[in-house]
Amino acid sequence: MSPRLDPTGDVGGALPSSARADPRDKTIHVLLAAAQRRQADLNSSFGELFKGAALQEAVRRKTAELAEAGEQIRKMERSLADSQRLESIGRLAAGIAHEINTPTQYVGDNLGFIEQQIDTLLGLCKAMKEVLGAAGPTGVDSRVLARVGQQLAALDLEFLEAELPSAVRQSIDGMERIAAIVRAMKEFSHPGTQTKVPININHALESTLTVGKSEWKYVASLETHFAPDLPTLDCFPGDLNQVFLNILVNAAHAIGDRLSQDRSIPGRIRVTTRRVDDWIEVHFEDNGCGIPEENLKRIFEPFFTTKGIGKGTGQGLSLAYAVVVQKHGGQLDVRSQLGQGSTFILRLPLGEPSSTSEEAQA
Ligand SMILES: Nc1ncnc2c1ncn2[C@@H]1O[C@H](COP(=O)(O)OP(=O)(O)OP(=O)(O)O)[C@@H](O)[C@H]1O
Ligand SMILES: [Mg+2]
Repeated sequence: MSPRLDPTGDVGGALPSSARADPRDKTIHVLLAAAQRRQADLNSSFGELFKGAALQEAVRRKTAELAEAGEQIRKMERSLADSQRLESIGRLAAGIAHEINTPTQYVGDNLGFIEQQIDTLLGLCKAMKEVLGAAGPTGVDSRVLARVGQQLAALDLEFLEAELPSAVRQSIDGMERIAAIVRAMKEFSHPGTQTKVPININHALESTLTVGKSEWKYVASLETHFAPDLPTLDCFPGDLNQVFLNILVNAAHAIGDRLSQDRSIPGRIRVTTRRVDDWIEVHFEDNGCGIPEENLKRIFEPFFTTKGIGKGTGQGLSLAYAVVVQKHGGQLDVRSQLGQGSTFILRLPLGEPSSTSEEAQA
């Protein structure tokens, strides 16, 4: 009688009494058991091998999935930053249009005035030429002289002396103002670069403050204290400009909030840059409503906002944090006192020694 194998491959149960009695059966039984064990060993080695290979394949698949998910997240972060920048430009467009419209209007008015006066002055020049042409050995015909006299009398020379040069000066200033706004817009909306480029942070701040003027000018005055010898910084300028704008707009909103309760102290935003060892520090200080203690630890969370619908979505500071800390290896801190105001402090590492801002501008 041959022994049974249970499903685990063991020889089934104890030997039947007949097998115990027959040594030949016992030998067969032992040999069979040994063969079964080898088979089981073989199966399990293959199993292990198979399991190992399957595991490796699963790990490879998961790693690829993770890499793809990481790339997707990076793409989403990039497109979020891009769409925030475009949204800001859209939001600022009305203010920028207004900023450009004011100088455009007075440049237009001044040019109209200058055109009129030029006509009069040219008329006078022609009359003078006539006088010179008519002058003979006996002098000038009195009728020609009378005509020139009439033209001169029609001219308000004192008025022209006072108004013409200032109309020209104002027009030049207006054109410079328009050019500065357009330049700032161009710099601000510069598409993000894939690699870091050296920039002058003072200059980038200047552009952002100009582009965002319509956000702060109705609630605050602006003070800038820029270190003149700031080294250039290798960075992603489009991202940093967006960070500056987000913090600036928050400061203007906080001042607006405070002014709606208390108008006794005028709004003020102070922007300071300086070099501290191998870091560039930028401080944005406002005398707005301040941040309650319980909110301070939450303000960098995505979608944390205390603002109403249409005024804020809670993305500004979380994006600022990602750009400063993750993308530039910097630090972003805040100090705030309720009712007194807040200061946001950005620290950006300089890395390799760089030229100074004056050298960069030269
Ligand atoms: N300078 C500040 N003074 C007072 N509170 C501030 C200041 N900056 C930020 N906060 C608070 O932090 C919150 C989060 O700011 P964050 O910029 O991330 O979002 P938001 O301004 O609400 O919306 P978004 O920036 O997306 O338009 C704000 O809602 C506000 O409560
Ligand atoms: Mg904001």
